Amino acid sequence: MDRLTYRIAVRLVPGGTGSAEAHALAVGAVVLVSGPRQAFPFVPKGPLLFVAGGIGITPILPMVHWSAVHGHDYRLVYTGRSRAAMPFLDELPISARVRVRTDEAGLPTSHELLADAPEGASLYVCGPTPLLEALRHAWSGPVHFERFAPPPIQDGDPFELRLGRGGPVVPVAANESALTALRRVNPDVAYSCRQGFCGTCEVRVVPGAVDHRGYLPSTEDGMLICVARAAGARVVLDM
Ligand code: FES
Repeated sequence: MDRLTYRIAVRLVPGGTGSAEAHALAVGAVVLVSGPRQAFPFVPKGPLLFVAGGIGITPILPMVHWSAVHGHDYRLVYTGRSRAAMPFLDELPISARVRVRTDEAGLPTSHELLADAPEGASLYVCGPTPLLEALRHAWSGPVHFERFAPPPIQDGDPFELRLGRGGPVVPVAANESALTALRRVNPDVAYSCRQGFCGTCEVRVVPGAVDHRGYLPSTEDGMLICVARAAGARVVLDM
């Protein structure tokens, strides 16, 4: 196992500035990075079913390699639009435990994707949100997953942000995050995971502000604006 090198995979997203910048990097370019964040821990206990959708193979691949090397009971179903759109195909173990399923035969159903599961398996899944949600719904055993994108906001209530005491008020609609609303007025607001675990988007909240009536979830220093909401209230941000 190589503990000195990071290998990353970035899918080029049309119109995506971050991925375009990564794809424009020249060999030898120096890039400032922060340490890795683990949001998808691998706990290889009992039989395992891995399901990967497209670039979702990235975190699954080392888990599959570990399982293959250690003789662990596992199955992998790797799905994508076409083989040309599926990275790392040539790095999959050559094994009856591995199945590649392209959409050319029609979109796979949850039932089909889960049919390879060994008895009593834990499910590890990474892929687009519809795939993730369908499998989480259909699977009754333990499930571990990683999202590419923030989860959809369900049953959200609108609220307001005030930018500093006496500053402008930014309304946050029921179906958007505070981050999305804030970036409309300030596109430079920093963010990374958009799922509440990296801390990049944390903004200090003005303590004791008259119209601060609470928000959830809260952190010691402030508000993770990618996920925190303040149903019907107004939060005063220190910015
Ligand atoms: S962007 Fe990662 S916690 Fe908000």
